[in-house]
Amino acid sequence: MKKVTAIYPGSFDPPTNGHLDLIERGSEIFDELTVALLRNSEKQPLFSLAERTRMLEELTAPFKNVHVDTFEGLTVEYAVKVKAKAILRGIRAISDYEYELQMALMNRKLHPELETVFMMPHQKYSYLSSRLVREIARLGGSIEGLVPEMVERRLKEKLDPAVKLAKVRPIKSGKRA
Ligand code: PNS
Repeated sequence: MKKVTAIYPGSFDPPTNGHLDLIERGSEIFDELTVALLRNSEKQPLFSLAERTRMLEELTAPFKNVHVDTFEGLTVEYAVKVKAKAILRGIRAISDYEYELQMALMNRKLHPELETVFMMPHQKYSYLSSRLVREIARLGGSIEGLVPEMVERRLKEKLDPAVKLAKVRPIKSGKRA
């Protein structure tokens, strides 16, 4: 039987519960799904490529048909290289549609044999984005329920290095041990 492989490209800075929801849905539809992290030297990400890769590998470990990879350049060229038939993208609200449609049609122009498949994450994630998660975390707001617990911990460590230090050297009665 023919296997259908898809890629799910993005920045995932950081991965959110919305991303995970889509990965789970994608893993049920496609035989193989590759979460493809863009190596983008122009953007200044909060988490390094290695950190994002590690987080995604940990988060997707329960899905046996999901893999994590990184790519540079055009998404369609990467898709062709890994013999994917489809590009998976999430649409949260109508506001995503115009940008996503433009990208899907441009990708079709470049490689007509590739199909973009849009899926909707659960409606409880329809207002969720990595950009807002970064902003809320930076400003000290609660991101509980928006990202997996592991990502929440990493965000706290990243934004407040004292949290990481306290884990390594526990603080006893106000003084470091
Ligand atoms: O997580 P994001 O930022 O929504 O992901 C956007 C991404 C990585 C899918 C998009 O920027 C992309 O495909 N970049 C690779 C370069 C490319 O192929 N550009 C042409 C798109 S028509």
